[in-house]
Amino acid sequence: MEAPERAPSTGAQGDLPGRLDLSTPSVARMYDYFLGGKDNFPVDRERAEQVIRRAPHVPFMAHANRDFLVRVVRYLVGECGIRQIVDIGSGLPTQDNVHQVAQRIDPRTRVVYVDNDRHVLVHARALLAANPNTHAIGCDVREPLTILSDPHVRGVIDFSRPVAVLLCAVLHFIADADDPYGIVATLVRAITPGSYVVVSHAERHRDLMPATSAYNGANASAVLRSAPEIRAFFDGLELVTPGVVPLPRWRPEGPLFLADDRVRALGGAGCKP
Ligand SMILES: C[S@@+](CC[C@H](N)C(=O)[O-])C[C@H]1O[C@@H](n2cnc3c(N)ncnc32)[C@H](O)[C@@H]1O
Repeated sequence: MEAPERAPSTGAQGDLPGRLDLSTPSVARMYDYFLGGKDNFPVDRERAEQVIRRAPHVPFMAHANRDFLVRVVRYLVGECGIRQIVDIGSGLPTQDNVHQVAQRIDPRTRVVYVDNDRHVLVHARALLAANPNTHAIGCDVREPLTILSDPHVRGVIDFSRPVAVLLCAVLHFIADADDPYGIVATLVRAITPGSYVVVSHAERHRDLMPATSAYNGANASAVLRSAPEIRAFFDGLELVTPGVVPLPRWRPEGPLFLADDRVRALGGAGCKP
């Protein structure tokens, strides 16, 4: 493993500055609304409804993304021997959270949740309070060195052993100007061979494009990318079969349905050789 480069001197070490903002739509709470959750406010619901009016299949896509995430965690822990997971852009707790899926297979699996939304952090900490193998930190994926050097992260995760880094439905909130490929490359440099990176990402498709403007003024803007652009996040990694595919087609555990073809998001897992 290469030692992580030095983190910037500023940046949160496990906590987030400021107060809970209930006046700006939050992409975490909008996603919670799409999933049928209750951790959202009128400002989030109104904005989520705008998205649904422009792209009615988005809630279905949110469920497909969660299903993908559960399958990928089961695969990595159950079949690849992964016992440490860093889930970045983890979202509000929902049904079948990453640590629950992983720890059902092996209770010793260690999980760190990372999100830059204060509301997510509060809920995640409440859920994890009694779980010694998990931790949640408030940090921004755009500061990967801060994440990698965070003492709480390093207290739970041993970067000299294989780890899975999950980046599910978060990179489409990172603008090109913030160098999402550089962020992933920094994370890949810090993990040891035999580690995995998982990405799911909304696709630049005419079905979704009308919905992106509904994210303007939310706490993150949506950036859709083409299939080749999404595949490029895995450069230098060995892709797990079947590669980077529409989410329902990644190692499905049951039959596929016609509606699954409306999921305009791709995902995959890559192993560091
Ligand atoms: C659509 S949710 C995805 C949640 C979960 N990963 C999943 O796939 O079900 C996106 C999450 O990414 C978080 N997020 C957005 N921008 C972020 C950033 N720059 N740094 C860290 N987290 C971010 C949001 O707060 C939200 O919780």
